[in-house]
Amino acid sequence: MRTFAIVNMKGGVAKTTTACNMAYLLAQNGKRVLLIDNDIQGNASAFYEQRKMAGTATVADVFRGASIRDAIRPTRYKNLSVVMGDMDLATVNMELMARRDPRVATILQEAMEDIQEDYDFVIIDCAPNMTPNVINAFLAATDIIVPLEIDGFSIDGLREVESRVLEARAAGHDVRLTGVLVTKFNSRTKMDREGLQFLRTKTNFPVFHNVIHMSIKVKESVFQHRPVVEYARKCRPAQDYRAFVAELVPNLGTEQEGALV
Ligand SMILES: Nc1ncnc2c1ncn2[C@@H]1O[C@H](COP(=O)(O)OP(=O)(O)O)[C@@H](O)[C@H]1O
Ligand SMILES: [Mg+2]
Repeated sequence: MRTFAIVNMKGGVAKTTTACNMAYLLAQNGKRVLLIDNDIQGNASAFYEQRKMAGTATVADVFRGASIRDAIRPTRYKNLSVVMGDMDLATVNMELMARRDPRVATILQEAMEDIQEDYDFVIIDCAPNMTPNVINAFLAATDIIVPLEIDGFSIDGLREVESRVLEARAAGHDVRLTGVLVTKFNSRTKMDREGLQFLRTKTNFPVFHNVIHMSIKVKESVFQHRPVVEYARKCRPAQDYRAFVAELVPNLGTEQEGALV
């Protein structure tokens, strides 16, 4: 089981869009996928039309010790399940901090041990801050993916993510900064072109070869609660997300006639 945590300390950089589209693409290609919404805003949950229901746990309950199995919900897509997140994460973060116990940082990792055999990929969509739930994601993940919108401050945030990954590794966790995914890219803008060039040539961060271009189709797809790769499969960001997932998980499409569906 590979676990991708989608992180960036900034909001609005397409973390949720990336998590939701990756999850959909991997599931459509026959992989068993679990998407965990680890953000108080609950955008990934809303995207996959999850609501709070009596008797069904959320990720906040998992942080309180509930079994992750009790929090897994199906979506309308085959092979794709979701653990929903909501405002209750704010309360649980305060509870975790009040415990002053370093073991609270590995609750999610331990919870996920129960489902190692059940999924091929887990994708954790994270909130843009270093709250206990997000620190848990760093320690539960095998791969950290950082969606990044080119702007003047984006590199600073990357350094913070990198140092968290190094800390996790130093503590014995087998996690790596797999790559930076440039999102909302506008090739007509000089700043975007130069920023990408800078990132690739003047820093040591691993940067995915594929970038995700800006398109109004993405916003439309979110409005429709549908992955853009399904809603407008020929648009540029849909092609980009397919190419990115193929780059991230090589051989994915080979079981089904070569190309990613
Ligand atoms: N490639 C894109 N082109 C245009 N708009 C995008 C693109 N990716 C994301 N967006 C829009 O940007 C906003 C923030 O995206 P979101 O995935 O919610 O970011 P985050 O989870 O990092 O806060 C949303 O309105 C989303 O529809
Ligand atoms: Mg989000």
